[in-house]
Amino acid sequence: MRPVFDPFDPAFRADPYPFYDALRTHDPVHTTPFGMVVLTRYEDVAWTLKSPQFSRDIDKYATQTSSPARQRRREQGRTRTKSILNLDPPDHTRLRRLVSKSFTPSAIEPLRAVTQKFVDEALDTAEQRVRDGGQFELIDDLAFPVPFLVISSMLGMPTTRADELREWSKVLTQTLEPTVSMQDLDQADRAFEGLIPFLNEVIADRRKNLGSDMLSALIAAEESGDKMTTTELVTFVVLLYVAGHETTVNLIGNSVLALLRAPDQLAWAREHGLDSNAVDELLRFDGPVQHTVRVPLKPVQFQVGDRTFDVAAGERVLTSLGAASHDPSVFDDPHRLDLRRPNANRHLGFAAGIHYCLGSSLAKMETQVSIDSLLRRFSRIELSGEPQWRDRLTIRGVDRLVLSVAR
Ligand code: HEM
Repeated sequence: MRPVFDPFDPAFRADPYPFYDALRTHDPVHTTPFGMVVLTRYEDVAWTLKSPQFSRDIDKYATQTSSPARQRRREQGRTRTKSILNLDPPDHTRLRRLVSKSFTPSAIEPLRAVTQKFVDEALDTAEQRVRDGGQFELIDDLAFPVPFLVISSMLGMPTTRADELREWSKVLTQTLEPTVSMQDLDQADRAFEGLIPFLNEVIADRRKNLGSDMLSALIAAEESGDKMTTTELVTFVVLLYVAGHETTVNLIGNSVLALLRAPDQLAWAREHGLDSNAVDELLRFDGPVQHTVRVPLKPVQFQVGDRTFDVAAGERVLTSLGAASHDPSVFDDPHRLDLRRPNANRHLGFAAGIHYCLGSSLAKMETQVSIDSLLRRFSRIELSGEPQWRDRLTIRGVDRLVLSVAR
C-alpha cells in the first residue's frame, strides 16, 4: 500500500514519525490528495529551504485553488503589510538586516536573569497549588506564561493590557494553520482591531521616550540611513508574539514529555543540566514546528536514486521539518533521544536558509532555563495520565500535561 500524508488521522497526530519514515522510504516526493507536494528527505527539505528558486510568499505565487477561508486569508495577505516571514529578497534582506541585531546570542543572554525570575515565580505558584491539594499542569503553569512574559518584557510592553494581548496572540496563531476556518478569521479580524491601535499607541509613545528595551532598539535600528516604518514595526511585533510564543510553549511541553519517556536521558539532564546541544536534540526529537511551505518560482526536479519527480511552478511544497530531522541518512538511530548526539544541531526544527528562525537563541534559552529549573525543583516528576495532542497541523504540542511532582 502506498503511504499517504494524512495529518488529520489521530494516529498521525499522536506519533507522525512512523508515517514520515514510510513516506521517506516509499514516496519521498509525495503528492497529497489535497494537491500538495510533501518532502520528507533531509537533503530535499534542506535544499528547498535554501534555494532561491522557491518563494515564501505563498499568497502571491501559489497557483492552487483552496478553501474559501484560505482564499480570504490570501486576499488579506495581498492587502495587509507582509511580515518578514512571508517576504522574499530583496524586501526580506532589508528587514532582516534591520532586526537581526536584537536577536543575536549576545543580545539574548542578558535576558536570562529575567527569564529565571519568571520561571521561579511560575514554579512557586504551581508548587503552592500542589501543596493546597491542586494539580501541576505544565502547559498553563509554566510553558505558556514564561515565553509570553519574556517577549512582553523584552519589548517593554505595558502590562496593563497583558490579558488581552495574550488572548490576541493566541487567536492570531490559529490563522497560521492550513486548516484555518472562517470563524478563526473573524476572530483574528477582531483581534487585529484591538491589537493594531494598541501597538500604534505604544510605538508612538516609545518614539518620544526611547528606553533600553527591544522595541526602542527596533525603532532606532538603522542601516545605511534605512529605518522601519511604523506599519512594518507593528507587523513585526505581531509576528514576534505569534511566531515566538506558541512555538516555545510547545518546545517546553514536548521536551518535558520526551524526557519523562526516556528515563536515562532524564537522569543525564538532572545530573548535567541542559546545554545548547541537548536543547537542539530535544528540538530534533520532537520539534513544535513540523513543516513549512514554499512555492517554486519555476518548474523544479527532485532526483532520488534513479527516480525523477517534477514539480510545477506555483505548486505548494510542504517541507517536513519533523521528517527531515528523523532522516536516518543524517541521524543515527533517529527515533532515540540522545542529549549527547554529536550532530544534533543539524536538525531543521528552526528551518534553514534566509528564514532560519530569528528567535532561535531566545527559544533555546527559555527552554533551557524552564526545564533545568523544573528538574532542580522537583526530585520526582511523573506523568499523570496520557497527554492529549493538540488539534493542529503546523504546530505540534500537547494541550495539557498534568504532572505529579515532589521535592
Ligand atoms: C522553539 C521555538 C521556535 C521554533 C521551533 C521556531 C521555528 C521557526 C521556523 C521553522 C521558522 C522558519 C519558517 C519558514 O522558513 O517558513 C521561524 C522563523 C521565525 N521565527 Fe521562530 N521559532 C521558535 C521561536 C521563536 C521565537 C521565540 C521568536 C521571537 C520572539 C521567533 C521569531 C521568528 C521570526 C521573526 C521568524 C521569521 C524569520 C524570517 O523570516 O527571516 N521564533 N521560526
